[in-house]
Amino acid sequence: MVKITYVHTDGTRETVDAVAGNSVMQTALANGIEGIVAECGGSCMCATCHVYVEPAQLALLPPPHPAEDEMLDTTAAERLPNSRLSCQITVTPELEGLVVYLPPRQI
Ligand code: FES
Repeated sequence: MVKITYVHTDGTRETVDAVAGNSVMQTALANGIEGIVAECGGSCMCATCHVYVEPAQLALLPPPHPAEDEMLDTTAAERLPNSRLSCQITVTPELEGLVVYLPPRQI
């Protein structure tokens, strides 16, 4: 199990156990984390699973592939340098302790 922390816009933090191989989006839905909509179910076609990755941990992730980069231009909340689509982040043991911040809106 890998610990992932989701930080809500009011600063509330929820830390959950993630299964390696699942996405950060799937982990959020499985644990009832509010603020991730994931309309397309993880197909990289909706951008409603937007998160801001803790800047100090960005280097742990591979860079977004072109399709994710394109969808990141359509997020409801502002795209920032640490914006990622949580459905495209696969949980690995190296991501132990990952912190992601939920955006103010997904739609
Ligand atoms: S769930 Fe639709 S882009 Fe991530």
